[in-house]
Amino acid sequence: MGGLVVGALLSVPLIRFALFPLLRRTTELKASLVGALTEFSSLTEPVMRTIQIELVDGWRKAISEKAVYVTKDSQGRLRVLTSVCPHLGCTVPWNKDKDQFICPCHGATFAADGTRVSGPSLRGMDTLETSVQDGQLQARFQYFRQLVSDKEVIG
Ligand code: FES
Repeated sequence: MGGLVVGALLSVPLIRFALFPLLRRTTELKASLVGALTEFSSLTEPVMRTIQIELVDGWRKAISEKAVYVTKDSQGRLRVLTSVCPHLGCTVPWNKDKDQFICPCHGATFAADGTRVSGPSLRGMDTLETSVQDGQLQARFQYFRQLVSDKEVIG
């Protein structure tokens, strides 16, 4: 009887170890490659890049693609913007002729650095966390709450 109890107790960590990836609730979002820093050294306007996002959820891995913009802030530093409109989530294209981002859904406009200019969006376009590794610009894609004035990560 005692051996049975000890055996059951010893098996708990093994079962937890085996099930760990299946029981995890969070989805990991890794940083995605945007491009070589040298590609963006002489940027004069935002450029679109499609990044690959690897979602890791337990044992499962999925790859999806998202459009982002590489641009510069007012200090000339690189920043990466998600193309998801902070109003209701439409994809916001860069309009070269108007020198602005203009959302096709409800007309929100944003400056080249992503700051809000006009329209129904309550904030500017959302910046993504970036890092540089071996001369390569990387960004961590995230989703942010819409219809609010402050940037809030939702996943
Ligand atoms: S979704 Fe972009 S302005 Fe409404």
